Amino acid sequence: MSKRAPSFTCQNCGAVYGRWQGKCDGCGEWNTIAEETAGLARPLPGRAARKGRVFALEPLTGETLEAPRLGSGIAELDRVTGGGFVRGSVLLLGGDPGIGKSTLLVQAAAALAREGHRAVYVSGEEAVAQVRLRAERLGLASAPVQLASETSVEDIVATLSQGPTPRLVVIDSIQTMWTDAVDAAPGTVTQVRGSAQALIRFAKQSGAAVILVGHVTKDGQIAGPRVVEHMVDAVLSFEGEGSHQFRILRALKNRFGPTDEIGVFEMTGSGLREVANPSELFLSERDLGSPGTAVFAGMEGSRPLLVEFQALVAPSTLGTPRRAVVGWDSNRLSMVLAVLDAHCGVRLGGHDVYLNVAGGLRIAEPAADLAAAAALISSLTGAPLAADSVYFGEVSLSGALRPVSHSPARLKEAAKLGFMAAFLPESARGEGESAVRTTSLTILAQLVADIASRAPRKVGQDS
Ligand code: TYD
Ligand code: MG
Repeated sequence: MSKRAPSFTCQNCGAVYGRWQGKCDGCGEWNTIAEETAGLARPLPGRAARKGRVFALEPLTGETLEAPRLGSGIAELDRVTGGGFVRGSVLLLGGDPGIGKSTLLVQAAAALAREGHRAVYVSGEEAVAQVRLRAERLGLASAPVQLASETSVEDIVATLSQGPTPRLVVIDSIQTMWTDAVDAAPGTVTQVRGSAQALIRFAKQSGAAVILVGHVTKDGQIAGPRVVEHMVDAVLSFEGEGSHQFRILRALKNRFGPTDEIGVFEMTGSGLREVANPSELFLSERDLGSPGTAVFAGMEGSRPLLVEFQALVAPSTLGTPRRAVVGWDSNRLSMVLAVLDAHCGVRLGGHDVYLNVAGGLRIAEPAADLAAAAALISSLTGAPLAADSVYFGEVSLSGALRPVSHSPARLKEAAKLGFMAAFLPESARGEGESAVRTTSLTILAQLVADIASRAPRKVGQDS
């Protein structure tokens, strides 16, 4: 019999090596490789390999059942999951420490328990007393949530299998769980994977919705093997800026719903509060009348969202001017700057450029190009933009403006919040009536000319 060869697994990315080494070739991390005995599936000695069982194959057509859902009672959470938790599904919730994952899930469990569903909250990190304290602070102490402080997956599954099937099981967090089924130290990739597997099996067999909390590494990835993300039905991420009170819930993957919806919450002294109209929140601290700010009429999934872009363009004292972006893609900023330079005569080579999305929101839409450009030109020229205008449109490398989707919804949201004017690409006009006065543009240079005509300083002036 050959001796089972030891295998060495990177605890960061899950890459497997035949021998130990200091640096992982896969992800470049140091000291992340640890020895693990690979639990290879092989028949026990003296027993023949099991013959496969024959199962029936089904056609594509047939009865389709809408996934049975369970509303959490928190509308912003349901929006992101696609209408509630799906029975028998497993959801992974990631986020920085202290962002409010436990708070959100205690609130969801309590809401379901109050509806009369069996909701179980298993914490592997905090003692029952700590979870109780949090629930008290949230005013939820009276909700009939079943609590436990446990880390053994076998014990958890055995306990949950007693009595009526729970409708919701929260496991806080998957990194603290361990299972007897694999021979590795708690917290290792193999343990996390093994524990997730056991809990996913439990969810599929029982029909309970299981939520796994996952830690994130310093670069924002959910810690442990990426493979867990592939095993679960949905991956949600809870984000926020340390200095801001609001939190954004996003779906990174969702087998049962959309991935472009966001849920917006505000962290208050008594837990997370839903923010039904996020535009109001993001525009609440506007700095009216100063140059360098432009309001972007954006979309997050099916919901329009107005946010403020802030730019600062200042003559640089450095050989290589600085470009700093918060909340937007820095490649996108470079592209807009290059188009301004090549097609609009706006030379920013000698200027430092800072761009910030107010409130700490992260914008990924190309439609934000026009708002970013407007904020940049406004800062450069010192001409404030009209406070009642919104901007949206994609800038192409040729300097032309491309239409973007959902123009009517963007304009409607702008009108609702009292905006009077919108600057948008030509072909987006006429898609429905709106109370907002629209100015359609075909090329970015038109916007530059419009802002510069009101400017105290000349565009392209180098000093
Ligand atoms: P928590 O849910 O424990 O975060 P996570 O599980 O993601 O690590 O939230 C911890 C933070 O939230 C902590 O800094 C305190 C704050 N908080 C409030 O501001 N209000 C509250 O009602 C609660 C329960 C927490
Ligand atoms: Mg927690």
